[in-house]
Amino acid sequence: MKSILITGGAGFIGSHVVRLFVTKFPSYKIINLDVLTYAGNLENLSDIDKSPNYAFEKVNLLDVPELDRVFLEHGITDVIHLAAESHVDRSIEAPLDFVYTNIVGTVNLLNAAKKHWKEDLSKHLLYHVSTDEVYGALGATGFFTEETPYHPNSPYSASKASSDHFVRAYGETYDLPFVITNCSNNYGPYHFPEKLIPLFINNIIEKKPLPVYGDGLYTRDWLFVKDHARAIEVVFHKGKPGGTYNIGGFNEWRNIDLVKLLCKQMDEKLGNPAGTSDNLITYVKDRPGHDRRYAIDATKINKELGWEPSVTFEEGLSETIDWYLNNKKWLNNITSGDYQQYYNKMYHNR
Ligand code: NAD
Ligand code: DAU
Repeated sequence: MKSILITGGAGFIGSHVVRLFVTKFPSYKIINLDVLTYAGNLENLSDIDKSPNYAFEKVNLLDVPELDRVFLEHGITDVIHLAAESHVDRSIEAPLDFVYTNIVGTVNLLNAAKKHWKEDLSKHLLYHVSTDEVYGALGATGFFTEETPYHPNSPYSASKASSDHFVRAYGETYDLPFVITNCSNNYGPYHFPEKLIPLFINNIIEKKPLPVYGDGLYTRDWLFVKDHARAIEVVFHKGKPGGTYNIGGFNEWRNIDLVKLLCKQMDEKLGNPAGTSDNLITYVKDRPGHDRRYAIDATKINKELGWEPSVTFEEGLSETIDWYLNNKKWLNNITSGDYQQYYNKMYHNR
């Protein structure tokens, strides 16, 4: 009987992973461990939180005795670790928050797994969810493969790179069974409106400027979040322990082109004349240390495990916009209160 601890399950990607596992595997017990920072929201799980195979634990990864209790009480057999501070701009403002949660929090989790799984390690797995940002920035050509050397450029990516190294080191040193995936930019429902796509959807709804950093020619590789959750399920069940897999959408967009597509779809859905939302585009001061381009070579996961994205970007973006337009209460709950302070601080003098 599997008892899987999913950390960060009240966040954006975590909530999709929790939903997938709770609904697809009724025989698994799913324990969602989350401290509920500004990014954690139990409303993300309101459709499944009464399921008999689901439990929630409001615990901080920095609280070692509480981690111990959760491992013991729930007989944790496996971990899927998503909890993190995840926003690059916040990491530039407050790097230490990222050191504590992403590095120290991950090491605390590794220690708990090592302590509680010492009987028969081969029956267990610690799955660490990481990012393509650990590889740094690409030039105009080429892709990140699993062999690309790490070269993190932001406090966020440096903290994620460090956590990846600790996971691998615990595998080598203590034989802890692990797998790591490094994924590209996700988008979809329940995305916190500090990140590009949900921020711009919200600003278009509110008729506020769309702050494009620098020259707008930065490039990201976008993956629909439900496809990432599917990939995590496949790697959890079939991935080679001790291995790493890159996950990506084969879907590169320059920011300005993506924003124009978003404006076009939003205008159509809102019944605005063509070009209405384009008029909100405003070029603002660049992000310091801004990585020029990310692009994932996802051949390994495709060839070894048969995973590939299931939707085109146009379909995924349309579903995402529809979700935000149909869930204004969710958006309003998030964007009232502290969010306004965050927004003013980050964008007022940009
Ligand atoms: P998110 O910010 O939406 O959610 C993070 C969750 O972690 C929140 O629910 C938060 O409450 C929880 N959390 C934070 N600190 C915690 C702590 N100390 N103890 C317990 N819980 C804590 O993040 P996301 O975008 O869903 O990303 C999830 C994971 O996937 C992260 O590890 C991130 O690095 C990685 N990732 C994200 C993307 C992306 O595009 N969003 C892409 C690749 C990898
Ligand atoms: O690549 C995976 C990473 O993708 C994840 O590990 C991170 O957790 C996730 O936040 C994301 O990082 P990015 O920095 O790429 O995402 P963000 O949405 O913040 O920015 C996407 C691009 O848009 C980036 O080039 C910066 C630009 N941008 C962003 C914001 C918030 C703007 O031009 N204006 C903005 O207001």
